[in-house]
Amino acid sequence: MAAVGETAEKISSLSIKDGSSNADLAASAPNLQKNLSILSAEQIELAKMLLDEGQSHLFAHWSEPGVDDEEKKFFFDQITRLNSSYPGGLASYIRNARNLLADSKTGKNPFDGFNPSVPSGEVLTFGDDNFVKFEENGVKEAKNAAFVLVAGGLGERLGYSGIKLALPSESTTGACFLQHYIESILALQDASCRLAQGPCQSQIPLVIMTSDDTHTRTVDLLESNSYFGMKPTQVKLLKQEKVACLDDNDARLAVDPQNKYKIQTKPHGHGDVHSLLYSSGLLDTWHDAGVKWVLFFQDTNGLLFKAIPAALGVSFTKEYHVNSLAVRRKAKEAIGGITKLTHTDGRTMVINVEYNQLDPLRRATGHPDGDVNDETGFSPFPGNINQLILALDPYIEELKKTRGAIKEFVNPKYKDSTKTAFKSATRLECMMQDYPKTLPPSARVGFTVMDTWLAYAPVKNNPEDAAKVPKGNPYHSATSGEMAIYRANSLILRKAGAQIPDPVVQVFNGQEVEVWPRITWKPKWALIFSDVKTKVNSGCSISQQSSMIINGQNVFLQDLSLDGALVINSVDEAEVKVSGCVQNKGWILEPVDYNDSSLSEEVRIRGFKIEKVDQLEMNYAEPGKFSF
Ligand code: UTP
Repeated sequence: MAAVGETAEKISSLSIKDGSSNADLAASAPNLQKNLSILSAEQIELAKMLLDEGQSHLFAHWSEPGVDDEEKKFFFDQITRLNSSYPGGLASYIRNARNLLADSKTGKNPFDGFNPSVPSGEVLTFGDDNFVKFEENGVKEAKNAAFVLVAGGLGERLGYSGIKLALPSESTTGACFLQHYIESILALQDASCRLAQGPCQSQIPLVIMTSDDTHTRTVDLLESNSYFGMKPTQVKLLKQEKVACLDDNDARLAVDPQNKYKIQTKPHGHGDVHSLLYSSGLLDTWHDAGVKWVLFFQDTNGLLFKAIPAALGVSFTKEYHVNSLAVRRKAKEAIGGITKLTHTDGRTMVINVEYNQLDPLRRATGHPDGDVNDETGFSPFPGNINQLILALDPYIEELKKTRGAIKEFVNPKYKDSTKTAFKSATRLECMMQDYPKTLPPSARVGFTVMDTWLAYAPVKNNPEDAAKVPKGNPYHSATSGEMAIYRANSLILRKAGAQIPDPVVQVFNGQEVEVWPRITWKPKWALIFSDVKTKVNSGCSISQQSSMIINGQNVFLQDLSLDGALVINSVDEAEVKVSGCVQNKGWILEPVDYNDSSLSEEVRIRGFKIEKVDQLEMNYAEPGKFSF
């Protein structure tokens, strides 16, 4: 706190606007004026900024000096954090909010004047020569990649009590999403280094963006599992700060209803990842270490790494500065479309446009049917799945200009049609996929479309909401996320020649899902389709009620006939040939009641458990060649 002697000078430095006086201060923020003597010079500067930005209400209920002084200090600590964590400071935040709230009130469409068209990109078909080539290029290039996992989200829709990264991605092994991601990155690192011509000491960096809601539990998850095999120095956590909530169209900051010395805050969205990477200095470190690509991904997509190698191969081959992973999308399906927007004034951008904006935009620009399927049966606008690959050097250049600030939006829920009051405090938000909005027209922005079954099965919805999803739309639940992994693995083995029967349809937690054999493998067994093809022959068959876990790198399935459960564990130096007939009672999928409180939350949210009745488990702990 300031020495009393400095107070007069500080008070005279506190003017509300040019030409204003302490009389103004006494009138507009009398309680602040009374407290000036206990504030430091920095705190007075911040107070001045707040008054200049129309925030005098924040001091309206302050007590006399000597009362609540600790709380007043906490107030300024929070203001300092809010000010330093936003590009341009809190004053910019308030001004941006005022402008966006004014646009929102008048109903201004952010895409007014833009004409949507289909951008150019690569549409891949799993397993064909083109796909295989891109995958091989992607694996070669992976040693030059860095991964960024955005994991600061609350996961309110899922309602899981833990962090989403700790949720098992499937129940045969129980491996959580973070384990699966890290093992995939390590497998890519090893495979990429094996292909490198020269020396390779690459350690692919992993950044995890956390928030106050997820940070501590993410650290605990990593530490209690020895970083799932990654070097601790390979992993960096960047914590995003929340942003101030806004009470009205003048962008008056919302005071926490429980504490008059605290501003209410809410998450700002995953777009924060760009400013955090910029301010962390990591991008320059990566540049110096030879990193060329930054891959952004989300917390619960158990299929993503099946799509990464081919998509990275596309980025490399096409020299894309921005490559958005996408899936085939039915016209009007509730998923954003990757769209090229061309403005009447000549501006262009390739960007995600939300489905409820895309259709009207098409209609308003000479396409009376809006967004419609083409001859392929899908919309020509691919569905954005929010996994991005950015070329590092142009990314650094762009962030030097923007400091990582991403175009924001505001989504207030108004009390009535006058749009003057909000139902609850709102805030500005930003999305990582809006990064290309500020890019120059020369930027090479494209997309890579994959089959949904291969690339996208996030876990976002709780069972009750998932069960209400209209028929034909994806559930995006723990149930569908797990079943999608078995389906993808079965389809990949089938494409490699193995006999896999069609699935049966079952209902778990009110959701109708295809149940394929429960087949899982460690990423190091097969990262790309050509790995699978060399490790499985067409004489293999696996029955629908079977389960199989391949937990080893050099495991070869030759003329295996499986009807039951088979687990193969082997060290990397063991080469194991698996053939013949394996038959046992296997593992049974048992439906469970979502409300059965005797079961763990992880089991209840998927609506089934695996009853391990009988199995054949083969363990190869020593180097050598083995067959059974
Ligand atoms: P989601 O759309 O899944 O949102 O975020 P969410 O906030 O996690 O969940 P809901 O909406 O409350 O149900 C997509 C990705 O972005 C991350 C999430 O962790 C997820 O990986 N995210 C989201 C952040 O990192 N920060 C945020 O502020 C919001």
